[in-house]
Amino acid sequence: MDIVGYWKRQSQTTERIGEYTEEKVVGLVTRLLGLNPKKTLLDVGCATGKMLSRLRARRKTGVDYSEKYAKKARKKNPSAKIVVAEAAELPFKNASFDAVLCHSLMHLMDPAYAARVVGELERVCKKGGRIVIGDVPDPRTYPGGKWVYRLRTEALKAVNKPHYTMFSPAFFKEKGYAIVAGPVNDRYYAYKQKYSKPRK
Ligand SMILES: C[S@@+](CC[C@H](N)C(=O)[O-])C[C@H]1O[C@@H](n2cnc3c(N)ncnc32)[C@H](O)[C@@H]1O
Repeated sequence: MDIVGYWKRQSQTTERIGEYTEEKVVGLVTRLLGLNPKKTLLDVGCATGKMLSRLRARRKTGVDYSEKYAKKARKKNPSAKIVVAEAAELPFKNASFDAVLCHSLMHLMDPAYAARVVGELERVCKKGGRIVIGDVPDPRTYPGGKWVYRLRTEALKAVNKPHYTMFSPAFFKEKGYAIVAGPVNDRYYAYKQKYSKPRK
């Protein structure tokens, strides 16, 4: 089953969507993105715009492939530009934003699609700008997590849902990102300043 297609269909009909705007998450994302009211911000997978409404920037743009969530995001963020588009095909020129966020999307993709998304995040980020990607880690990347992965795969198969690919720290390290463990929900954050040397 095509995981991206599956979740895209779900997003057209599902009312409830997980959004992660705990104070600690907003604080960490703000710090890693180097946000301040002079910067321009893109939030890819902005859902109903809760995170976008909490972040401070001069110009805010949100992208989501769900028209349904985009409508809500526009209501919540009247001064922001909310665009319905695919994360792997961002309709923006190269180097358009100072800060690019992609929070809780990676687990809805397969690795090939995720690599295209990361390419797009980097393309639309300005030189010296920051990119932050946050998600739950793949359980196979931590000790004893293999059985969690197996159980989850079996459970999802039973209800005919595709398995979440999940965030792999190794995948991002290879692309020159630094990794930090998030303050809540066991999330991990990959972050990078465009064209800076990779951190060890
Ligand atoms: C789990 S929610 C996360 C929302 C928000 N970023 C947060 O962390 O609170 C994922 C959102 O990303 C959107 N999404 C998932 N895959 C996408 C893709 N390939 N292109 C565009 N939007 C996508 C979904 O419609 C949904 O609104």
